[in-house]
Amino acid sequence: MKKILVLNGSLGEQLGNTQFILDKMRIHLGSTVQLEFLHLQDFFKNHTHQEAIPQLAHKLNWADGFIFSTGTYWDSWGSPLQTFLEITTSFEGGDLFFGKPAAVVVTMHSVGGKGVLSRLQGVLNTMGILIPPMSGMVYSLAGKLAIEKESSWSDDFWSLQDLEIITHNLVTSLQIKQNFKSWPVDHDDPKRIWIK
Ligand SMILES: Cc1cc2nc3c(=O)[nH]c(=O)nc-3n(C[C@H](O)[C@H](O)[C@H](O)COP(=O)(O)O)c2cc1C
Repeated sequence: MKKILVLNGSLGEQLGNTQFILDKMRIHLGSTVQLEFLHLQDFFKNHTHQEAIPQLAHKLNWADGFIFSTGTYWDSWGSPLQTFLEITTSFEGGDLFFGKPAAVVVTMHSVGGKGVLSRLQGVLNTMGILIPPMSGMVYSLAGKLAIEKESSWSDDFWSLQDLEIITHNLVTSLQIKQNFKSWPVDHDDPKRIWIK
């Protein structure tokens, strides 16, 4: 059975809005895949960065694919997700990420989330992750309120029903055998000084 690591990078954590979306996705995924949830804020509260690196490596290695999720905070993804990206930079282009598909879900009130989604998909793809077609969405309070009013425009808003499509496209991508190649990646310390 294929394995999916679900990373919650939000500030709201287990009781937040983003987790609600992840719980819906869990229902769509049913028992077709094995799921493990990783609540990044909680994880980084309980582990130093030094402890986190091997544990994250173990979890990423276990996974065949990922769901990344976050709220929108001042036009950006959550600080726990940023920390994750910073400390897994050393895995860029490597087997832990390379060619594994990811769905991405973002929540927000009204503005900024689509930028977060597009930039996050771009970052993940540059790290080596496969972004399947129609595998990311933004669920917003604004969209939710708009959909509650019946309208011929409704299909233009992301809704909870789209989560079924997103999980389907993720699971489909898990089945595809690929032969991608990685370009060379500089694995020296990315924090080293280059201005002298
Ligand atoms: C500090 C902070 C900043 C926020 N900034 C934005 C924003 O820029 N745009 C927006 O639409 N919503 C913004 N929101 C609303 C959250 O994105 C939204 O409630 C989201 O679903 C929160 O997810 P969570 O409960 O999982 O943390 C912000 C919320 C907080 C707490």
